[in-house]
Amino acid sequence: MTEPAHAAHQASSYASSVARSQALGADLALHPERYRILTGDRPTGRLHIGHYFGTLENRVVLQNKGVPLFVLIADYQALTDRDATSTLPADVLEILADYLACGIDPGKATIFCHSHVAALNQLMLPFLSLVTVSEISRNPTVKDEIRSSGRDYVTGMMFTYPVHQAADILSMHGTVVPVGKDQLPHLELTRTIARRFNERYSPDAPYFIEPTGLLGNAPLLLGVDGEKMSKSRRNAIQIASTPDETAKLLKGAKTDPDRNITYDPKHRKEVANLVLLASLCLDSTPEAVAEEIGDGGASALKALVTDAVNTYFQPIRERRSQLIADPAQLVAILREGNERACEVADATLRDVQQLMFTKYY
Ligand code: TRP
Repeated sequence: MTEPAHAAHQASSYASSVARSQALGADLALHPERYRILTGDRPTGRLHIGHYFGTLENRVVLQNKGVPLFVLIADYQALTDRDATSTLPADVLEILADYLACGIDPGKATIFCHSHVAALNQLMLPFLSLVTVSEISRNPTVKDEIRSSGRDYVTGMMFTYPVHQAADILSMHGTVVPVGKDQLPHLELTRTIARRFNERYSPDAPYFIEPTGLLGNAPLLLGVDGEKMSKSRRNAIQIASTPDETAKLLKGAKTDPDRNITYDPKHRKEVANLVLLASLCLDSTPEAVAEEIGDGGASALKALVTDAVNTYFQPIRERRSQLIADPAQLVAILREGNERACEVADATLRDVQQLMFTKYY
């Protein structure tokens, strides 16, 4: 395939992903019970307010509308770019505390992790047989991650994790996957695997439903330095940050010398980002927040946004500190989620074995 044709193909596949996402969003509101959300995060540290406004908040909204929700703490996927596993036990409980504090309800949602759901991992093998090495090699998100990993080698785990992600989704029969743009290649691969499995092993009645990516419409929050908010850049306000830590981070936030505060993401991205953050916490619009500050300058803006963030997250942080103080309770919640996920994945694996003629008794 020539490069331009390849680019055109990618553009049209993005357009169809957007169209599918929009149609799905409309139907989700009408028939929440017909769907199952499968989503996940790598446990690589505490979640930040970018995660909150980008996806956690919407997961809770959908959960409360009655869409069944499965949330994966992707502990094996965390091994794509790091060797150390000794921090995983703490990291898994931290992310679980973030989820629960933000309103993911273990009475409604199933929260689970890779390492304790054996049948999910076993699906990786038949799924690997359904994709080619060149298909795996083409994945642009994996290519980016390899480039930014700083390593001069690529592990098999890094190379194949999108196939593992297909097992995450299909083992649970997830039909809706809330995603950012970077995850779309993985979702396309999952759809391919589902389709090929059906063609090869279940031609009369498709067994797997091809999942649909639900593209978020939340505006993208930047870190306090105006760059991508990221756990590793130390530019992120964590959900768990204290009011003082929040104030300190925001005090050091990058701005510009123009005292007249406006919302102009194109030309004043740092100032616009603070205005946006305040508006999200105040349930207002960026324009209204900018108007309110007027020519009060960056210090007035920082004072306002600090207060807005600390007020908004106060009850979430309070719940979180109670949760993290009781690790035994967190472990019990994880165990229950894992048990439920095992029931679902075991049933899927049994079906798969049956359809592939590898179920001998
Ligand atoms: N790849 C996702 C990320 O890095 C995490 C993830 C793992 C995931 N398995 C998933 C997301 C399944 C959606 C569905 O954020």
